[in-house]
Amino acid sequence: MLLTKTNTLDSVSIYLNEYQLSFYYAESYFLYKNHLNYLISRLNKYKSYQENTERKKYFNLLNDAYSQNAKNVNKIVSTLKSNVSITAYENLKVNSTNNTQTTLKDFIYLRRDWCFLPEAEEQLKTTIDPIKQELSKIKFENNNSLFLGCGVGRIAFEFENVYKKIYATDKSFSMIWHLQKLLNGELINFYNPHEKNTHRLENVAQKYIAEIPKEKLNKVKNKFEAFVSDVLDLPFENKSVNAIFSIYFTDVIALKLWFQQINDKLSDNGLFIHFGPLDYFFSDEREMLTAEEFRQFFESKGYTTLVDKIVETPHLEDSNSISYKVYRNWFFIAQKNKKEDIEVNDDTVLSIKEPISYERKGVIKDGIKENEVNLKLPNGNFSGADSVIQILKLVDGKNTFKEILIKLKKNGFVINDSDEIKNLLIDFLKQEIVTAN
Ligand SMILES: C[S@@+](CC[C@H](N)C(=O)[O-])C[C@H]1O[C@@H](n2cnc3c(N)ncnc32)[C@H](O)[C@@H]1O
Repeated sequence: MLLTKTNTLDSVSIYLNEYQLSFYYAESYFLYKNHLNYLISRLNKYKSYQENTERKKYFNLLNDAYSQNAKNVNKIVSTLKSNVSITAYENLKVNSTNNTQTTLKDFIYLRRDWCFLPEAEEQLKTTIDPIKQELSKIKFENNNSLFLGCGVGRIAFEFENVYKKIYATDKSFSMIWHLQKLLNGELINFYNPHEKNTHRLENVAQKYIAEIPKEKLNKVKNKFEAFVSDVLDLPFENKSVNAIFSIYFTDVIALKLWFQQINDKLSDNGLFIHFGPLDYFFSDEREMLTAEEFRQFFESKGYTTLVDKIVETPHLEDSNSISYKVYRNWFFIAQKNKKEDIEVNDDTVLSIKEPISYERKGVIKDGIKENEVNLKLPNGNFSGADSVIQILKLVDGKNTFKEILIKLKKNGFVINDSDEIKNLLIDFLKQEIVTAN
């Protein structure tokens, strides 16, 4: 199921290989340190404003909020610091326009997920209930599920009564660090300061305590695992996950970069569940698929669409602010079709699906001497392909497999083992280079 873990830092399980790990620590340290500097610069500014102002109370409140949050971020920075290698740090390629101030969404998500505030519970309910409702109409394996980009984990957590085991993963060290602290029964004190969009002073800097209540924690004993990993390299065996949830995550990274990962890890008949607004947090418009294109992409890869609808939710609403977003989320469930075992027998007739290009290179001197024959297949070039070309020439939608073997022999092709040719054609069938008529 889950592959062997590579590291643990302050109770956070990290599934990255040794090479990725040193850059991960260096990059995370850089980002959190920058965020800490941002919080400190705010604190200094508010301290200077506290003097000579009639709004002393307002700045006092903000000061308290930023000092507490800075203390929390400082703990994360110190945890990472001892693991940062100078070489990795010096070789970091960090985008200079990276807005570190917005990279730390932890406190906003902690408020929504683990403070049990009415408007936050409302958003969670309007997200989770429709998914559970649709799942109740579908037949599926419930051994395990994986939640991509899980944040601080509440949405994943709420599926504990649907799956026997829940894996919740995020690339952000701090998200999993916070989640793990809560899973260990600790409380987290923090603030969500609002400099603007407030009614009264009491709304400017409310203090919160995040906690997973004991009775909730007891429900997930041994069945909820949170860890750091990258969606581009998921630490699971192939075909071992029954459901992959992408809730408010799909728009973080272009689908084409992570589709292969989820397709490999999903079991036969496994479910892919997307819920979110397709807000796209990257800049390449070529990858900003519409919901319709997204659905067609999955269908072209052999998935069956089970749900395709819109569900409106408030997004990260905070009653202390007089402004909040509403998302009209696209909700999509697709089921991975089990590929039937592919067979080729004597009577099988095959055709080439799309024209395949090939290239012959050689020299002429006292006759022709070919020294390179390349076949251009969808997953790369196939060199030394002369005999494969001879076989594919006979795959014409008319010849049966038996006739192909007879004709190859007649053409002087030496066939020691007809199974070798059969396996080649089965492989081409699997790769959808040829189809059975
Ligand atoms: C918009 S947040 C949503 C959090 C969570 N799904 C929720 O709704 O509460 C997106 C999350 O994706 C995570 N993320 C970004 N890139 C990732 C990657 N390559 N692999 C895994 N998680 C990633 C971020 O750290 C962030 O926590």
